[in-house]
Order: sequence, then C-alpha cells, then structure tokens
Amino acid sequence: MVMTIWNLGSVNVDHVYRVPRFVSPGETLSAVDYSWGLGGKGLNQSVAIIRSGGHVKHLGAIHEADDQTRQAAAALGIEGLWGVEAATGHAMIQVTPEGENCIVLAPGANHTLDEQQLEQALSAAQGGDWLLLQNETNAGVAAVRAAKARGLKICYAAAPFEATAVALLINQVDLLSVNEGELAQLQASMAVNAPLLVTLGPKGAYYEAKGVRSDIAAFPTEVVDTTGAGDTFLGAFLAQFDKGLPLEACLRWASAAAALQVSRPGAASAIPTAEEIELLLREAL
Ligand code: RIB
Repeated sequence: MVMTIWNLGSVNVDHVYRVPRFVSPGETLSAVDYSWGLGGKGLNQSVAIIRSGGHVKHLGAIHEADDQTRQAAAALGIEGLWGVEAATGHAMIQVTPEGENCIVLAPGANHTLDEQQLEQALSAAQGGDWLLLQNETNAGVAAVRAAKARGLKICYAAAPFEATAVALLINQVDLLSVNEGELAQLQASMAVNAPLLVTLGPKGAYYEAKGVRSDIAAFPTEVVDTTGAGDTFLGAFLAQFDKGLPLEACLRWASAAAALQVSRPGAASAIPTAEEIELLLREAL
C-alpha cells in the first residue's frame, strides 16, 4: 500500500547562472547563460516522489500574489501551497562547465510557515505515513512533534547542514539522508544511530542501518548540472522504499533517477519520470 509522504518542503525560484568557474571574492564575472526554474530542496524531493509513483502532500509557502510560481508548481504536480506575505524563496546558483554548483539562498516565505496551520494539515495524516523535511524551512521541530504524535515515520535530509537544527531532530528520525560532506560534519558533532542514506556523488550511495551497509554504484552519465541530484535520489528512494520494495531495488532506482537528473540542466524540471528510470534500468541490465 502506498502511504502519503507529507513533505514540509522549501519552494524556491532558482536563478541559474552558467559560469566558466565560480566567482572569486571581490570579483565580477559574466555568466555565459542565465535561466530560471523551480527548485528548493523540498520541492525537488516532492517532484522526485511524484515522478517515481509516490504519493506526496507538499506543505510549503510562497508569496500570496506569486501566481507564476504557483502555476509552475501545479504543472509539476504540487498544489495547495500556502500564500504568505513574505517573498517567495529564491536561490542564486552558479553552475560550472563540469556541472558543479554553489548556491546562495534567500529563504523568504520558506521561513514563515505557521505552526498551527502545519499541525492542522498533519491532522489528516495516518499512522504509517511519512513526514519528510530538510533544513530550508522553519517549524521542523513542531512538525516532527505533530507527526510523531500521529504515528508517522520521519525522514530528515540534514541539508543545508546546520548542527543546531540537526541536534534537535537527530534522535527522532527513522531515516536520515546526507551527502558525504554533511556526514563528515554530522559525525564530527554528534552520534548517529538512525538508519542512514548517504549520497556520494560519482561514487554512488549507500544505506546503512544497525551496522549493515548496502552500497549502490552511480550509473555512468554525462554530468551537465548536479543541482538537485541529492534531492532526486532521496525522493526517488523514498517513493520506492515506502512501497516496501527490496532495499537493493530502491537504491538502484534512486541511483538511476539521479544519473538522469544530472544529465540535464535545472533542478525540479530535470527530474526523470518513472518511465525514463525504467528505461535506463532495462538498458543497464
Ligand atoms: O538542492 C538543490 C536546491 O537547493 C536548489 O533547487 C535550490 O533552490 C536550493 O534549495
């Protein structure tokens, strides 16, 4: 049975600048290309869940008059975003010819979520559903408390890494998702007992629980833009994991999804559909 994944998730407008290299302190550098699209770790994860056949309810906010973002999100399958006074969150993203990125965030509406509204939304959740969250919104602690009270499982992507935020949630989670850098910061500052999903970029990924580790290699791919790759991996993995599929199959599926996503420009719009993932998996046999 497919349960609902309640995603307390950021929504950003991504302004993407393709640059010959990352700008240096004090330097002014011309981009070779500019584009915009929808992103936000939360929204990217929701899109990945939807495109992998999962069921998601996205709990997020944008500016009340921002019809452009509302319509773009709806086109990706994300409806019901709350309208608030604060500006929609945005990200300024530099992408190098190698596909590496660096990101500056303006959280805006993502940091103005109303705890009571959230708790009310979660009152429709059922035991066995998931609460998914990352560090790009406020109200994580309140959402986890409300979700735990209803018997939800908690999946937490500790990104962007903030030790204080992570310390508040780490003992509450059923699945903790990090990349290699975040894992190093995590292990330097606290003990980790939760099942872990760790993405390693071109070196693949692994799941580890109770000292047992399962690895998956990355699919060979031509990297165009790595923005949102970790979000895609997590969303695709969680959609499959929630269906109760074997761990190895979930990891392979997520790895294929991430490989396809990094081969295209953009964040949310680059996330592959289930058909595209199935095709890659068949071709790789
Ligand atoms: O993980 C990638 C995302 O981080 C981007 O889409 C950007 O909006 C930031 O939230």
